[in-house]
Amino acid sequence: MAQGSELHPLQQAFAELGAAQCGYCTPGILLTAEALLAENPAPGRDEIRAALAGNLCRCTGYTKILESVELAALRMATGSGGAAVESGRSR
Ligand code: FES
Repeated sequence: MAQGSELHPLQQAFAELGAAQCGYCTPGILLTAEALLAENPAPGRDEIRAALAGNLCRCTGYTKILESVELAALRMATGSGGAAVESGRSR
């Protein structure tokens, strides 16, 4: 998902909002959310919840995950997204 040293907006949002703890569920959730946003760039909370229903997270609860997908969608719509991994800079 990352492009070189640039995190995908979903990855960036998950990191910023604490949507990943152990990371066990994170790859599946990120890829599912990426597919959702490719089909529906501005999903509502219920649409995000339905899309992610097959992914279980035992660590974070789902509020941070849902908020992260919403934040990434907003950033993708406005063209402000990922951040440099190497430098730790954020845009
Ligand atoms: S972050 Fe640990 S299961 Fe989701």
